[in-house]
Amino acid sequence: MEGALTARDRVGIQDFVLLDETTEAAFLSNLRKRFSKDLIYTYIGTLLVSVNPYKQLDIYSHKLMDVYKGVNFFELPPHIYALADNAYHTMLTEFNNHFILISGESGAGKTEASKKILQYYAVSCPSTTLLNTVRDKILMSNPVLEAFGNAKTLKNDNSSRFGKYMDIQFDSQGGAVGGHVLNYLLEKSRVVHQNHGERNFHIFYQLVEGGEEELLRRLGLERGGQRYHYLTQGGGAAVSSIHDRNNWKTVKNALQIINIDKINTNHLFGTVASVLHLGNVGFGRDARGCAVLSGDDAELLWVSKLLGVDAQSLREGLTCRKIEANKEQVLSPFTVDHAIYARDALAKAIYGQTFTWLVNRINESMENKDLSRKNVIGLLDIYGFEVFYVNSFEQFCINYCNEKLQQLFIQLTLKAEQEEYEAEDIEWESVQFFNNKIICELLEEKHTGIISLLDEECLRPGDATDLTFLERLEDKMSNHPHFVTHKLADKVTRKTLERGDFRLLHYAGEVTYCVVGFLDKNNDLLYKNIKDLICQAKNAIVRESFSTMDSDTRRRPETVATQFKSSLLKLTEVLVKKEAWYIRCLKSNESKQPGHFDEALIRHQVKYLGLMEHLRVRRAGFAYRRIYEVFLKRYKPLCPATWPHWRGLPADGVEVLVQHLGYLPDEYRMGRTKIFIRHPRTLYATEDAYEKCKHELATRLQAKYKGYKAKGKFKRQKEAATKIETCWRGVQARKEREKRAWAVKVIKKFIKGYMTRGQARNTENSEYLAFVRQNYLNRLKGNLPETVLDKTTWQSPPAVLAETSELLRQLHSRLMVRRYVRGITPQRKAQLHLKAVTSSIFKGRKDSYPQSVAQPFVDTRIGEQDVDIRALQMIGHEHIQYGVPVIKYDRNGFKPRARQLVLTQTAAHLIDDAKVKQRVLYTSLKGISVSNLTDCIIVFHITCEDPKQKGDLVMQCDPLFEFLTKLSVIANKQNAISVVQGSIKIDIQAGKESAVDFSSGPEAEVCRAKNGHLLVVSTRARTR
Ligand SMILES: Nc1ncnc2c1ncn2[C@@H]1O[C@H](COP(=O)(O)OP(=O)(O)OP(=O)(O)O)[C@@H](O)[C@H]1O
Ligand SMILES: [Mg+2]
Repeated sequence: MEGALTARDRVGIQDFVLLDETTEAAFLSNLRKRFSKDLIYTYIGTLLVSVNPYKQLDIYSHKLMDVYKGVNFFELPPHIYALADNAYHTMLTEFNNHFILISGESGAGKTEASKKILQYYAVSCPSTTLLNTVRDKILMSNPVLEAFGNAKTLKNDNSSRFGKYMDIQFDSQGGAVGGHVLNYLLEKSRVVHQNHGERNFHIFYQLVEGGEEELLRRLGLERGGQRYHYLTQGGGAAVSSIHDRNNWKTVKNALQIINIDKINTNHLFGTVASVLHLGNVGFGRDARGCAVLSGDDAELLWVSKLLGVDAQSLREGLTCRKIEANKEQVLSPFTVDHAIYARDALAKAIYGQTFTWLVNRINESMENKDLSRKNVIGLLDIYGFEVFYVNSFEQFCINYCNEKLQQLFIQLTLKAEQEEYEAEDIEWESVQFFNNKIICELLEEKHTGIISLLDEECLRPGDATDLTFLERLEDKMSNHPHFVTHKLADKVTRKTLERGDFRLLHYAGEVTYCVVGFLDKNNDLLYKNIKDLICQAKNAIVRESFSTMDSDTRRRPETVATQFKSSLLKLTEVLVKKEAWYIRCLKSNESKQPGHFDEALIRHQVKYLGLMEHLRVRRAGFAYRRIYEVFLKRYKPLCPATWPHWRGLPADGVEVLVQHLGYLPDEYRMGRTKIFIRHPRTLYATEDAYEKCKHELATRLQAKYKGYKAKGKFKRQKEAATKIETCWRGVQARKEREKRAWAVKVIKKFIKGYMTRGQARNTENSEYLAFVRQNYLNRLKGNLPETVLDKTTWQSPPAVLAETSELLRQLHSRLMVRRYVRGITPQRKAQLHLKAVTSSIFKGRKDSYPQSVAQPFVDTRIGEQDVDIRALQMIGHEHIQYGVPVIKYDRNGFKPRARQLVLTQTAAHLIDDAKVKQRVLYTSLKGISVSNLTDCIIVFHITCEDPKQKGDLVMQCDPLFEFLTKLSVIANKQNAISVVQGSIKIDIQAGKESAVDFSSGPEAEVCRAKNGHLLVVSTRARTR
């Protein structure tokens, strides 16, 4: 930070505190150096010195405002924005009120400075539509107040002729939410009289120059101010730096923004115009020497019209005075001078009251009615100290005011500062400074001060005059070092004083006042009859403001100087409660020349403003101090030992803290109740560290808070979950209970149903029976037999369904049969057909039958291609229907011979290779016999009438059933087949018999038995 500071110090020194030597010459040289480079701002610590450049500098842009926004005071080159911003941020962080005292003599740039500050706040404060409305009102109150309260003087083309203290109210977020203006003593005399080279208040010129034709016609005014007595006394009204026409437009627009409606605006302009007309009312002398209106009544009529008062009463009020004598009212005519005095008094009163009314309106429009806590920054821009060739009551008041402010400055800075060091027991070498308390007392002391003497003189019965007042002053103040008159002065001084003058040695220099007019101006009297008249005016503004003036007619109103004194007292009371910031404005030259640095003039100002003393105190002193508690409270997060709580004494805590921060011994002092920090940079480094730490703290707090919130949420959720669970369990349990109750009922019913199942269907068993039925059917459905042959799978039915079960079983078996049948192919059908034939012949008769059932029948076992062609030829044209290899047993000796047996349509042919050995016509085949055992012996019984026939044929054919079935079908011999037990008789030849005997044995055998029979032993049938 220090590096940045020195880098910026290219032109002179930015802070006088850093000057090598504290001499006036060094001070002025630095000021001049900077001024020559248009650097008009320089600091003395936190006090800002501003030198009027009398030219527009490019240092007031929005861009620059942004640069200064939120930046520490010493980070950037000195600027009024830095001061404004610093006050603003201190207010926001410390939640307290501030004021910025702008001082300097007339034309030094106080009003300009206050405008710059307002503009800065207008741009850099938070903005919303609502806040912008307030901001506009605050900003636009300025042109209105300037039009009515500023005027060209010899010193300043835009001199403030009233004191202004404006509070800007900020909410906790820093938004400008309202404002309030306090006005002090308007220089009313200017309305009726201006010194040479000066002007009346701007508004008069703005109206007659800028006012629209129609408006001027309505107000009875002529364009240009030359015709108006009140505007021409100072000489020419045109001033190059004043743009009356443009300003007129600004003022009209501003009046709208501060909510002054059309009617009131009309009344306002009417009032202003009435003053101009009033100024043109002239007086002549009648025969008795009494004042009468001269010329025609045109001006009087305009006044009466614009104010809405009776013209005749007005004329009377301007020329006579009502005196109450013996409870009767008598009119006492004025002399011409008196009439002029009454006219001017009326004009001043009207203008003065209108000004007050305007300030009230502005306050109403800026007022913030919200009662929430607000902090304020006050801007004090009051007329500067001024010395003219002729100085009157107004200058007396103005300079008195400046004395008071200087006193306040001294109290708040020099004196207070030094007293504080003493009180805090800080080593300190006292700095001598001029305390203007003595002058303040000379002016305002009760009973003995000039104001008190003036008041006394004003109230004193008898012929008190300005000169008698001067005599009284000479009487009372003869020995005062700051007071001198022609009479009291030494010879040399006397030459510079007129007889009616008194001279005051103000803190800012000598001012010679001419007492003429002091009493009148202090009394500021308005004759009662004219005041009563105005109270009845139709013009609302004058009526309103006059009727509130001072209703108690018996009490003498407070004199102007006393009113002013008490208002200043109030002001200082308000200000001491706030934190002060200072801007000291210096006038660079008397001729308003840009860039001209009048060293003598500036030296004088530096002197009387006490800048050198301030610098010395600053250099010797400490830039910052805070009560230990406050300091510790703010910065304790910076040290682990003090965060979050310091249990010991605050002073010890602060010591630990600053040690931790690494403060050097010379950088700070520990007072009785406060810590004193010498350089701002030390504090700013601490503040920067605090800013950084704040974010970390905020993150930690945030995390804690988030954790706390999350915990809470989790707890709530858990509770909710438990509740839901409980409810759900309840629901489940209730359901379970209901289910059980239901189950008990059902079981009971079931048992009852079971017990009464044998009875006819009734209410008790109907459900059970239905259940039984359904249950059985369901069971049945899942366990149906899949083949017709499966006779075991069928579920045994309950008694009630016995009949149904049987019906269903039949139905199902038919269904299976049907399905089976439908699935049979023609070939298989034929096969089955044959098997059926086989069955009808052999089932239950021959032991080997059961084994054969599963053996499929083939079409033939010997095809035509298997038969020798010669044998085929012997068979002739007949086709072979079936052929099978057989073993033929000879009739004699039963020798086995392998033969082919083929069946044709008409006969069976026994073939031995190429020969048909035997042809058995079906017609001659009288029977076929087989045994009941498992052998494969077939006996063909052949009719033997034909001697060619060889007798019965004994064969062994393995596919016995197939062969016989085919044969029986081809030859239609079902009934010819017989199954024989034991033995089959056979005819060997005609008349010769034998037999085939069948028996069972362990081994199959076919042989010739001893008895000559063919013995066939077969194994027993395997049981399945
Ligand atoms: N910062 C500035 N930049 C440019 N010109 C300035 C500046 N300050 C003042 N002036 C010029 O000086 C003139 C007088 O300034 P201002 O009206 O602020 O003086 P003042 O101190 O208010 O005087 P008074 O006590 O008479 O009201 C302005 O009209 C303007 O021309
Ligand atoms: Mg001013």
